Amino acid sequence: MADTEDTNIANLLHEARTFAPPADLAANANAKADIYDRDPDEFWATEANSRLSWFTPYTTLREGEAPHWKWFTGGKINACYNCVDRHVENGLGDKVAYFWEGEPADDKRRITYADLQREVVRAANGFKSVGIERGSHVAVYMGMIPELPVTMLALARIGAAFTVVFGGFSPDSLAGRINDMQCTHVVTQDGSWRRGKVFDLKGNTDTAIESCPSVVTNIVVKRTGNDVVWHDGRDIWWHDMVDGKSEDAASCPCAPMDSEDLLFVMYSSGTTGKPKGVMHTTAGYLLGTSTTHYYVFDIKPETVYWCAADIGWITGHSYIVFGPLVNATTSIMYEGTPDFPDKDRWWDIIERYQATVLYTAPTTVRTHMKWGPEYAQRHDLSSLKILGSVGEPINPEAWIWYRDNIGGGKTPVVDTWWQTENGMILITPLPGVSELKPGAALRPFPGIVAEVVDEQGQVIPPGAGAGYLTITSPWPSMLRSLYGDDQRYQDVYWSKFPGRYLSGDGARVDADGDFWLMGRIDDVMNVSGHRLSTIEIESALVDHQEVAEAAVTSKPDPITGRAVVAYVTLKGGVDGDAAKAKELRDHVAKVIGPIAKPAHIVFTPELPKTRSGKIMRRLLKDVAENKTLGDTTTLADPTVVEEIQRRAALVV
Ligand code: PRX
Repeated sequence: MADTEDTNIANLLHEARTFAPPADLAANANAKADIYDRDPDEFWATEANSRLSWFTPYTTLREGEAPHWKWFTGGKINACYNCVDRHVENGLGDKVAYFWEGEPADDKRRITYADLQREVVRAANGFKSVGIERGSHVAVYMGMIPELPVTMLALARIGAAFTVVFGGFSPDSLAGRINDMQCTHVVTQDGSWRRGKVFDLKGNTDTAIESCPSVVTNIVVKRTGNDVVWHDGRDIWWHDMVDGKSEDAASCPCAPMDSEDLLFVMYSSGTTGKPKGVMHTTAGYLLGTSTTHYYVFDIKPETVYWCAADIGWITGHSYIVFGPLVNATTSIMYEGTPDFPDKDRWWDIIERYQATVLYTAPTTVRTHMKWGPEYAQRHDLSSLKILGSVGEPINPEAWIWYRDNIGGGKTPVVDTWWQTENGMILITPLPGVSELKPGAALRPFPGIVAEVVDEQGQVIPPGAGAGYLTITSPWPSMLRSLYGDDQRYQDVYWSKFPGRYLSGDGARVDADGDFWLMGRIDDVMNVSGHRLSTIEIESALVDHQEVAEAAVTSKPDPITGRAVVAYVTLKGGVDGDAAKAKELRDHVAKVIGPIAKPAHIVFTPELPKTRSGKIMRRLLKDVAENKTLGDTTTLADPTVVEEIQRRAALVV
């Protein structure tokens, strides 16, 4: 497990500081220490009965066996009803659901639950008018504008399943997802704002749809007003679609869905070239996200909560849209970046809305560290009570900086571990209960059973070292399968250790029984909290006409956690230069998206291979990390790796 030797991890192994919860927070916390004594089934049943509203109560809490479980069978429920309508019916119509901050100055909206209901109903009626119905599949390719959650809720209202594709993905990536799910409709926008520039979502969508025969209608929100190419008969403006449509809830009742009906598919990189279509169903997903949201962020009626992720990722689905809305929370949602118009954008937003919770990724914390604390110091951040971290291991330095400089040296930092597949936070501190340790995710959430095992599947006792992190019992918001590929679902997650969900992460449990996450131990890389597949990037590189072979690995990076390193052999023995490296990076951006661009490219005449022709990625990782090389005796030609080391030293 090479990651255990990273500098960050080495620091984690020596980290011994602890932080008790603030007394006032502990006294009034939603979760008290006895929450850990609860029986998992009793816990989930109690939450399901109190937190969710059912059209028809479920008859069975859970049925099936590994790896196929069903939760809350017999129940009828609707996600939109739980997120929106019932709050209006319960007198919370005037409560703010979202304070929305657009990127252009003064582009702000205050959206109450009643507003949200009106917009969702209008959109749902619009969607029906263009042929979307229960069971339809819709791809959503949008930025952080209110129409994005409105779209997700409106689709859930009528029982259509969706896949939201992160706005930074390329046309090819979008097309792959549309084709995999055979989407008939796409919802996009003309452009999105990013650092004052327009990102051409409509143009990308047009390119994608060229290779998507299933698409009949493309719905386009007018956001930036840039020129667009219009395809009559296929494209329709959002404002024309909703024009004259009723916003009265009774005109479009929430469809009673089965608990296990598909809510959405979120594509995520795996260890092969093809992204995995992670399937989430209705009732269990709503329950897992809302329950964790309530306890981990200690949500109160007056909470002003901000998850600063993008809705295009699972964090945004679970903790900007569904979890918070089920809990009738007031959230902040923003468009743009933390450094535009200036590097204090976030702190200005927190001060103006008196935010009480901030949830972000370690990469962003480290970026703010690099910019310096003065931007935060310009603002009063004393409203903050809880800080959250997600997406990658947080190094103790960043954890302490976050607590001291953003949290005024007093707020708990909850380091939440989970994955697209999990739907909800699985390992986390509870802010009113836990003795925090910087860099540790601490304990499985109530109702979750996690164990670290060795290669043979034997549990590694507390304090005895690191191994594979596995989850040993089902949880409500777990993925149900991979879209169109149940065999892959069984192979990837359930075959190495039968009966255990294999996370792909390494972890150790310390002598106190607390979990420390140590990063991916498969061919998945975690860059800036985003999941990337080595094989996917290799395929993108060899897709370039001049590339003969490519092998991709990663190395530690002080800001992004890991950085992508690509070893590339060009055709015809040609050597590469800086211009060629740029061309290859741009090519990867075109095929996958800018997030996948390799930070470092090493041109090499050959890749290290075994005598049977297999590329030895392990050695390339050693080279990237500047480590002593592991066993090289199986190499067909040991001089190859010496040459690569020499070249890598020149590049990095
Ligand atoms: O390696 C783990 C890392 O992110 C991976 C999941 O990525 P994704 O499905 O994109 O979901 C990210 C947001 C939930 C995990 O396999 N990861 C996530 N949270 C943490 C983490 N690693 C360490 N500590 C965390 N808190």
